[in-house]
Amino acid sequence: MQASIHVKTAEEQAAMRVAGRLAAQVLDMVGEHVRPGVTTAELDAICHEYIVNTQEAVPAPLNYRGFPKSICTSVNHVVCHGIPGDRRLKDGDIVNIDITVIKDGFHGDTSRMFYVGEPPVLGRRVSEIAHEAMRRGIAVVRPGAQLGDIGHAIQSFVEAERCSVVREYCGHGIGRVFHEDPQVLHYGQPGTGLELQAGMTFTIEPMVNAGRRHVKLLRDGWTVVTKDHSLSAQWEHTVLVTDDGVEVLTLGASGAI
Ligand code: MF3
Ligand code: CO
Ligand code: CO
Repeated sequence: MQASIHVKTAEEQAAMRVAGRLAAQVLDMVGEHVRPGVTTAELDAICHEYIVNTQEAVPAPLNYRGFPKSICTSVNHVVCHGIPGDRRLKDGDIVNIDITVIKDGFHGDTSRMFYVGEPPVLGRRVSEIAHEAMRRGIAVVRPGAQLGDIGHAIQSFVEAERCSVVREYCGHGIGRVFHEDPQVLHYGQPGTGLELQAGMTFTIEPMVNAGRRHVKLLRDGWTVVTKDHSLSAQWEHTVLVTDDGVEVLTLGASGAI
């Protein structure tokens, strides 16, 4: 059932552009703070302060279904939804920082990988593969393309690189609601699934494991880790389907996807 997909008006698209840019600006801002010795709770506090006081926006994760912090920080074998805490980052860690802000009622959702000092070869590799997987998914987006085309572009690339795609979590429609229809799977068959239409907004956020695809939820009810403890990486953008292709709403100052 995909009856609840909300195609955004021009005004709503403009508001999504603002929210998306703000989310990306948080990632631009926090990068210099990601270094050995910082705790993930300190990164959370820095982002919270910036979102609330500088951007005059709302950190969407805080109290979302009981999530206790304003950002997600997922280190090494943590796949997603890591809760910021007293853990100190150390040289060689890889960390995903996932930012969602609400501005004027609309959500912008984006995440990137950061290296703490010098990453190990495998950490760099899984991060780069997740990044390229996201880009390949985005490259497929245009009116008339299908969700299965996105999933296939991501899955075929990742598996050819002998990594795996997490299946339990997916991208999502986004707008006034944080997670709305459709579900955007990061695996699938070309020529299947919902047909994309101009005005749709959704995220593409593949989670890529260096080992097997299976995951486990920790007892805190949030933290998702790889079952085999292999490294995992994720990148995320919020995108808009345009009349002739795609617009990435969460570009940072560099303009790079
Ligand atoms: N930002 C995440 C996503 O990409 C969702 C985080 S939900 C939270 O969909 F509660 F963990 F913050
Ligand atoms: Co998301
Ligand atoms: Co996110």
